[in-house]
Amino acid sequence: MASKIIFCFMIGFLGFLPEITKATEYWVGGEKGWTLDVDYQAWAKDKTFKVGDTLVFKYNKDNHNVFKVNQTSFQNCLVPPPSQGLTSGHDVITLASPGKHWYICGFPTHCSDHSQKLVITVEAGAPAPAPLPATEYWVGGDKGWTIDVDYQAWAKGKNFKVGDTLVFKYTKGHHNVFKVNQTSFKDCIIPSSGGVTSGHDVITLATPGKKWYICGFPSHCSDHKQKLVITVEGEAPAPATPIPAPATPVPTPGPATKDDSNNSYRVTISAYRIFVGGVILIWTILTLV
Ligand SMILES: *[C@@H]1O[C@H](CO)[C@@H](O)[C@H](O)[C@H]1NC(C)=O
Ligand SMILES: *[C@@H]1O[C@H](CO)[C@@H](O)[C@H](O)[C@H]1NC(C)=O
Repeated sequence: MASKIIFCFMIGFLGFLPEITKATEYWVGGEKGWTLDVDYQAWAKDKTFKVGDTLVFKYNKDNHNVFKVNQTSFQNCLVPPPSQGLTSGHDVITLASPGKHWYICGFPTHCSDHSQKLVITVEAGAPAPAPLPATEYWVGGDKGWTIDVDYQAWAKGKNFKVGDTLVFKYTKGHHNVFKVNQTSFKDCIIPSSGGVTSGHDVITLATPGKKWYICGFPSHCSDHKQKLVITVEGEAPAPATPIPAPATPVPTPGPATKDDSNNSYRVTISAYRIFVGGVILIWTILTLV
């Protein structure tokens, strides 16, 4: 009898175990946030970062931004092209791969003179979160890629992330698609080459940051608003590193739907675990009576 009780409690406890090892959200710099003259290495010192954890960079977006950089750029405070930066003022980065990760502020002198830089080492130990399924976005919805559509209204509220795809659908020969820089976007300057013209152009969002697209037909961008700017979230895809499987098999509910955020997916798993752990514990107690 006693061994049966102990066994049942152990099984019940296993249901709760993944709760203890779930992903952690770190607010960079704590209450100070992401700003000048904070010792971010002191902040990071006693923390253990694992694959699946998130970093939240909170700052005034007029005064700071966030670039994920390599070791050389980190040491010398070299800022990558603006399109690679995160600029929302509340940037959430999921740590997708183990190893060292470097981050700097791209505003002049913030990294070099005001120590606005962070390096962390991410451990592979924890189970990785289920990767979010990539989403395919048909630009403009039913209207497709054409003149006189408000593409910023269409993009509003959508969370574009690395790995998602944009589908530009249009009548071939009447429109096309150019990926451009911010200047060309604003002034509707059509590059001399590099456009796609198939009428069904699928573009994979490979890197985080802002992306600008315009139609290259005369007056479509300038007079008919055939232009789209989006911000892609997430980290640049890491080189494929095999992540060790969790030691205990974890029950998994069905796949998340396309609209699930990372968090709601985790909450679903957590609720499921609590349910299973609870049922087993209650059953154990009932068998005692
Ligand atoms: C580091 O990043 C900078 C700026 O993005 C780039 O120019 C350089 O080639 C990179 N160096 C390495 C070793 O990857
Ligand atoms: C932006 O793109 C245009 C057209 O391709 C090019 O002439 C210009 O030099 C680019 N500007 C920057 C800042 O990269």
